[in-house]
Amino acid sequence: MDIQPSNLAWKDAYKLMVGSILPRPIALVSSINKEGVANIAPFSFFTAISAEPMLVCFSPMRRGTDGSKKDTLLNIESTKEFVINIVSEEIVDQMNITATEFPSDVDEFEESGFTKEPSSVVAPPRVKESLVQMECSLHEVLHFGDLPGSGSLIIGKVESFHISDDLYFEGKIDTKKLNPVGRMAGSMYTKAISDMFELQRK
Ligand SMILES: Cc1cc2nc3c(=O)[nH]c(=O)nc-3n(C[C@H](O)[C@H](O)[C@H](O)COP(=O)(O)O)c2cc1C
Repeated sequence: MDIQPSNLAWKDAYKLMVGSILPRPIALVSSINKEGVANIAPFSFFTAISAEPMLVCFSPMRRGTDGSKKDTLLNIESTKEFVINIVSEEIVDQMNITATEFPSDVDEFEESGFTKEPSSVVAPPRVKESLVQMECSLHEVLHFGDLPGSGSLIIGKVESFHISDDLYFEGKIDTKKLNPVGRMAGSMYTKAISDMFELQRK
């Protein structure tokens, strides 16, 4: 099988990507709009870029219905700040609620039952129930079109890195205690820690 993405509808191209680029970590992104209304949404097109400076990125796609920008992108473009909260198995049900496309004047902390924890550097609150939270300033945003399914790449500079005390030892994070989940295709997820194996580098 050899498929040219340019011949595919965006939804079919998306299915090939999410079925092969996996498991994907999940950034639970908290942001605020100009009026201060808080928003939370999960993004699995998410990865690290650089340790010095510490840069991370994630990609909100344009809405499948009309190509409009998602609230997270609009908020970050207007306030230039956000928080990436890591998703552990314990908070997946609340994370799932935040994936609902609520109107922009709805506070998604209230809808999901997550608790606001004030950030130390940026204005958007952290998700208290998340065990690792990265306060970010917007480093750069790149747009790759404005059609349904077109992505924008949001690059954030981590200004403050919060780790629950329980997880932190000798400068490292205890993966088992973090118990992160990854996103697979469709509505499937994976538990990162239940099937780990070791492979020493030669
Ligand atoms: C686990 C998970 C991962 C997701 N990853 C992405 C993603 O990488 N990019 C994207 O555009 N939407 C993604 N979504 C969908 C958004 O979370 C959803 O469209 C959300 O309502 C956007 O919210 P907003 O308009 O408040 O920004 C994901 C949903 C789930 C449940």
